Amino acid sequence: MKIKVGGQDRDVRVLFSEEQIRARIVGIAKEINANPTPDGSALVVLVVLHGALLFAADLVRHLNMPTEIESVRIRSYHGTQSTGKIELMSELPLRLKGRHVLVVEDIIDSGRSIVFLREELNQIGVASMQIAALLDKPEAHASDIQADYVGFKIGRNFVIGYGLDLDGHYRNLPHVAEVLG
Ligand code: IMP
Ligand code: MG
Repeated sequence: MKIKVGGQDRDVRVLFSEEQIRARIVGIAKEINANPTPDGSALVVLVVLHGALLFAADLVRHLNMPTEIESVRIRSYHGTQSTGKIELMSELPLRLKGRHVLVVEDIIDSGRSIVFLREELNQIGVASMQIAALLDKPEAHASDIQADYVGFKIGRNFVIGYGLDLDGHYRNLPHVAEVLG
């Protein structure tokens, strides 16, 4: 497949198929299920919109503990480049105070979004914060950040599909594909 990026044709190659993603999500859910909240309270799944929408929807179906769902919208990217500036596009729910929170992200790139969210959640006073990311680009990390649960580690190439966008497009692809060149 070819797509246009900034007016130029770029090749796209499937990295993870629908089946591979589905199988890996079952594995991640097993890891999360092995770590129930210490006090038995419901785990608050905080979906980072819009990228993690599909991942979170499939993941929560495999969680076997009491679960609540919240969401937050943040923005950091324009085109295929991180702006480095994180914007909170919706307020974080104050009811997260004292709760055990699982942040669900589509991808960790520089890690700035996660660092930013961690600070915001600490200010609210969550009981604990864990991170589940479908994808992780370890070579791109700007700070020492590690997700607790990672679906797949990938290189630096920009990826689209299964929630991940290029300027708002391609989120609906059932697979994850990498933009080449
Ligand atoms: P970070 O703050 O640099 O870690 O970037 C995290 C956010 O940037 C993710 O939640 C995505 O929305 C977006 N992002 C990073 N890399 C990609 C990519 O390869 N494709 C699509 N979005 C990406
Ligand atoms: Mg995005």
